[in-house]
Amino acid sequence: MHITRLGLTDFRSYAELSLELGAGVTTFSGPNGEGKTNLVEAVGYLATLGSHRVATDTPLVRQGAERAVLRAAVTGANGSALVEVELNPGRANRVRLNRAPLPRPRDILGTLRTVLFAPEDLVLVKGDPGERRRFLDDLLVATAPRYAGLRADYERVLKQRTALLKSAGGKTHLRGPARESVTATLDAWDAQLARAGAPLLAGRMRLLAALRPHVEAAYEAVSGGRPGEAAGMNYRSSALNNDGGFEDVAALEVALLKALDGVRASELDRGVCLVGPHRDELELSVGGLPARGYASHGESWSLALALRLASFTLLRENHEDPVLILDDVFAELDAGRRDRLAGLVADAEQVLITAAVPADVPDVLVGARFEVHAGVISRAS
Ligand SMILES: Nc1ncnc2c1ncn2[C@@H]1O[C@H](COP(=O)(O)OP(=O)(O)OP(=O)(O)O)[C@@H](O)[C@H]1O
Ligand SMILES: [Mg+2]
Repeated sequence: MHITRLGLTDFRSYAELSLELGAGVTTFSGPNGEGKTNLVEAVGYLATLGSHRVATDTPLVRQGAERAVLRAAVTGANGSALVEVELNPGRANRVRLNRAPLPRPRDILGTLRTVLFAPEDLVLVKGDPGERRRFLDDLLVATAPRYAGLRADYERVLKQRTALLKSAGGKTHLRGPARESVTATLDAWDAQLARAGAPLLAGRMRLLAALRPHVEAAYEAVSGGRPGEAAGMNYRSSALNNDGGFEDVAALEVALLKALDGVRASELDRGVCLVGPHRDELELSVGGLPARGYASHGESWSLALALRLASFTLLRENHEDPVLILDDVFAELDAGRRDRLAGLVADAEQVLITAAVPADVPDVLVGARFEVHAGVISRAS
């Protein structure tokens, strides 16, 4: 798929922007702080309803403005669509598809698909497990939008069960019917957590199996395939003892229930939910050593890149090319890695590239060139 038109009103540093885009490569260059990343951040937001840089919407609205509006016209295998998002920090955002309001914003997910590489991706390798879980879940939603609902259901149940654990923890001294009632309530929430968690866990494990060969291949391609330096990935579940061949939702639900039963006492003690997809880890390795804590800067960066490239390949295989966004990626790579990366992405349906220094972008990625200066975008001559 590709974007044919992008429109922004009061988004970040852009008061008003309307930009025609074509398939193929488009490069945005300009000095630091002129609005290159702001632009691709808007594209990512239209695809995921979230920013790759900030967790709240407030910084996305132009200083002094009340709301921001983002629009993209998208053309792909399913025809053309107009996606619009109105950001109202502190209040509900509004989403429209082909000018019709969507009561549930998440129903827009899947209309525009993107894979965004950015310097922030280093946290995928070096950051907390939560970053890697989010990577998996975001990709899961991109491959199958129904997971947005499953993810929201799980979050809701988890929140309620955690609140219950906290309040029940203070009641362990109870005896008789009062105690039985607390136990019965907890049992009911265990069942709900297992029911909501099992499809998410199954989805993640299936995704991991599909993604693994692509990550291995992409890492080899980007790093040049030095012997003994292969990338690996492994899903470590808080509820299971192994990571594969366990993708049956019903069996996972049973396993989650059993694991919850086993940790009830310590959960009451600590007031936190100790088992479930929210406690799992996507383990990454390079050359057999854990990437987090062992991999060099360049290796970590290549691995993060491999995760994104693999995501692109997977989405391409399943459906159609997502819009590929490379924010400031080339400046971080040595010449060999730059050229190999360029070779891997040159044939994508649409590639949006930002670079402070245009010379950092390899020649095979020539395309439409724009310059960004103080929130104004002009065609480079
Ligand atoms: N909500 C906002 N309102 C107004 N200006 C904003 C807002 N958010 C960010 N900016 C401005 O946008 C600029 C940053 O833009 P952006 O991150 O796109 O830069 P860039 O061109 O990608 O730079 P670099 O090359 O350093 O990555 C900053 O000057 C910042 O002050
Ligand atoms: Mg930038």
